[in-house]
Amino acid sequence: MPRASFWLSGWVSGALFCAAATGGSSSNQAAKIIAPAVSTGTGLLLEPALTLPEFTREKFAAAMATVGAEKIRRPWTRSVVTLSPHPRTDVRGLTEAEVKSYMLEAKRLFDRGEAVPVSDVGLISTQEDVVRKPMLNHIAVFSNSVARVYLLVQKTSTDTGWSHFSIVQDLTVTPVLDYYAELTADGPRFEGTSCYKCHSSGPLAIHPAREDLVLDAPLAAAISQHIADQPRSQFVFPKNSPKPPTGEKLALKFCTRCHEDGGERDALYQLHAHPIRVLVDFGYMPPNRRLKPEEIAELKAWLERKP
Ligand code: HEC
Ligand code: HEC
Repeated sequence: MPRASFWLSGWVSGALFCAAATGGSSSNQAAKIIAPAVSTGTGLLLEPALTLPEFTREKFAAAMATVGAEKIRRPWTRSVVTLSPHPRTDVRGLTEAEVKSYMLEAKRLFDRGEAVPVSDVGLISTQEDVVRKPMLNHIAVFSNSVARVYLLVQKTSTDTGWSHFSIVQDLTVTPVLDYYAELTADGPRFEGTSCYKCHSSGPLAIHPAREDLVLDAPLAAAISQHIADQPRSQFVFPKNSPKPPTGEKLALKFCTRCHEDGGERDALYQLHAHPIRVLVDFGYMPPNRRLKPEEIAELKAWLERKP
């Protein structure tokens, strides 16, 4: 379903009009600008919300440019860069070698300044006890008819070097399969265990930690919309990096309306406590309304229950 279905839930004709007007997920038509991240004080956060007052927009822009100023802040008309057609026709199931070559191609395009990256300080990784300092992300998206390819070039504000991660969605099979990897000096290394703690349902929508900590807010919105419109997919866990124990499944109906096996998004478990605490506290989830105090209390009790 297009994202319009929940932004405009209940407005049937409005939703159809919106889907037609934006003409598909990779279009450059204006997507709704991402609402600024402001804690709603639910008490769900385990650590005080960070606002990073010393990290000015100027410092942010300078830190982002250390990746190579020519690679970022590029003019764009389409937020998703089109890849050449897949060499094998009628492919049913990409091989691991093909998945890895898409990951490397994404990095190559980024390094040559031929990607359209959005640059931000990511909310989910910056808040709580994960890094608790600005987490700098460049995210670029690519696709052709067989794959959606995502590249993340990342470091914390105090790291010196940038790390590279990728997600490839194989669109040639049902369900669509998501491959995760870190791009190391020896090439892509598939991973699963650590990524699943936040990536419960494939690529994550963009959420800048502060309104001014994003380079190109319209691009962030367009990429976020492309991600929200992704097909439902299944996580591929490599043998050496298996699915971790998940704890209890979230069964509160104000979340399972959308987050459920076979739902619009995949089911959530206690393992996903960190992104749940952040996205609910900052008012992004549920997407269409604020939780009532008694619902927050139910969610909090569930998060605190021993798995
Ligand atoms: C602590 C939570 C967390 C973990 C663990 C995590 N990610 Fe992410 N990842 C995110 C968030 C949040 C974003 C979106 C960032 C933003 O808003 O700028 C993201 C974005 C990405 C993107 C860009 C596409 C997208 O989803 O927006 C890729 C690629 C990616 N991550 C790969 C990985 C891989 C591979 C792993 C495991 C090795 C991993 N991530 C582990 C939170 C996480
Ligand atoms: C009306 C449908 C809807 C409801 C209700 C809803 N969500 Fe979501 N949720 C989404 C969509 C769509 C996304 C992906 C787009 C985004 O993050 O903006 C998402 C993303 C998330 C994510 C990131 C992982 C993912 O699936 O991409 C978490 C965590 C999350 N929601 C938690 C919750 C919690 C907790 C509740 C209940 C308090 C909730 N959501 C209620 C639709 C919903």
